[in-house]
Amino acid sequence: MPCAFIRRGTSCPLEDEEHILRLTVVGTGYVGLVTGACFAEMGNKVTCVDIDQGKVERLKQGIIPIYEPGLEEVVQRNVHSGSLSFTTSLPEAMANSNIYFIAVGTPPGEDGSADLQYVLAVAREIGQHLDDYAVIVDKSTVPVGTADKVRAAVQSELDARGVDIDFDVVSNPEFLKEGAAVEDFMRPDRIVVGADSEPAKKLMAQLYASFSRNHDKVLFMGVRDAEMTKYAANAMLATKISFMNEVANLCDRLGVDVEKVRKGIGSDSRIGYHFIYPGCGYGGSCFPKDVKALVHMSQEAGFEAHLLQAVEARNQLQKDYLFNRISEHFGGQSLVGKTFAVWGLAFKPGTDDMREAPSIKLINALIDAGARVRAHDPVARDTARREFPPVWFEDGRLSFIDDQYDTLTHAEALVLVTEWKQYRQPEFGEIAARLTTPLIFDGRNQYEPALVREQGITYYGVGR
Ligand SMILES: NC(=O)c1ccc[n+]([C@@H]2O[C@H](COP(=O)([O-])OP(=O)(O)OC[C@H]3O[C@@H](n4cnc5c(N)ncnc54)[C@H](O)[C@@H]3O)[C@@H](O)[C@H]2O)c1
Repeated sequence: MPCAFIRRGTSCPLEDEEHILRLTVVGTGYVGLVTGACFAEMGNKVTCVDIDQGKVERLKQGIIPIYEPGLEEVVQRNVHSGSLSFTTSLPEAMANSNIYFIAVGTPPGEDGSADLQYVLAVAREIGQHLDDYAVIVDKSTVPVGTADKVRAAVQSELDARGVDIDFDVVSNPEFLKEGAAVEDFMRPDRIVVGADSEPAKKLMAQLYASFSRNHDKVLFMGVRDAEMTKYAANAMLATKISFMNEVANLCDRLGVDVEKVRKGIGSDSRIGYHFIYPGCGYGGSCFPKDVKALVHMSQEAGFEAHLLQAVEARNQLQKDYLFNRISEHFGGQSLVGKTFAVWGLAFKPGTDDMREAPSIKLINALIDAGARVRAHDPVARDTARREFPPVWFEDGRLSFIDDQYDTLTHAEALVLVTEWKQYRQPEFGEIAARLTTPLIFDGRNQYEPALVREQGITYYGVGR
């Protein structure tokens, strides 16, 4: 049954007697931890749940498992004030709240579909312990129709218990960017809420009111519309990147500088400058898996998503771009015994996330070809270490170096993979002096070719 507040239609569906909303956020990854911390910062009481006991223990001590600017301060402040707490027990968290955010991972399955096992496991557990009206919010990125699956999973547990408890399932996809996650969550462009029931809409409006102070940012829509909106947004951004990478490849062959073209088209307000930077491919936990999941969703719906398949295929090819350029430069000579300096391991600046990072494919290709790699990244070394066989570190095929310039010692070339700020204006004289043959492969078009060449360095960008 809906709680008394909802039945009376008052404005505060699930707040307690102190008018504070009590939330449970399940999953303390990039999305769950930021969501929990930011809701706590806005005066709600939040319990974050994770099955990873070590992570929860560290979080209780204020140790943040990921690199995300500004997050540590928000977490520590709210843990200290008692607004934010952590547990491994979902029933314990549920006992104190009636709003449950599901923010667990939805990794790609073998066939490219989003693997819903973690989401549905949480839904079943909620059904096993639900004892009063609640709103269950899907924050994870999930295929169209998942809210129905979550509803069915909860309901089947309630049926098994022989109880009749009302609940709503809402879709509230997250649009934060790693590296700016706290800022994005606190000052969102828009808040998408897919809700079919009035009480749930009212609750979500109240929850997000403090994030929409100067104008209402909440866009209400149907649950399936909201689920699709998240995939369409990521697929659009991935499409822009792959489009520009395709143009860059053509520029290589036609003797055109893609950077001139980028500015030429970005200045058109219908196109804009965002997400049209050519480079060595996109990575991360979202674009690759979400494009694949949308392709899979299309196939299941009996529709061939030609454009999305091409976006994914271009990106896979683009991740080979730097290695192909290196091989061409050396005229097909063996790379055995050659050393390469790699700047940037994370899939993008501002994060330690290595999921699907272009650096992984490049380093694997270089080492498989017999080369050695000396790599630097300001924050991703620990997460990157897990991506490569330990034996490579032991026998020196791969080393992570503390100082970016020390990577250049004995190296034939510098390969820029991630455009961290500290790599943007390097000392080219130092680079030229340290490399055995002054040579730069710029996988993010960060440098001005003429300036680099003035230093006697051979320069390769992407599409220039
Ligand atoms: N990372 C991003 O930038 C981003 C942005 C928007 C949306 N998303 C989406 O948000 C979701 C979460 O992504 P993420 O990057 O935060 O994932 P993540 O892998 O960093 O974190 C997921 C967390 O969930 C925990 N977990 C798994 N099963 C659990 C269970 N049964 N109970 C409690 N905890 C459980 C894991 O231990 C892990 O800590 C995904 O669907 C993703 O596509 C991610």
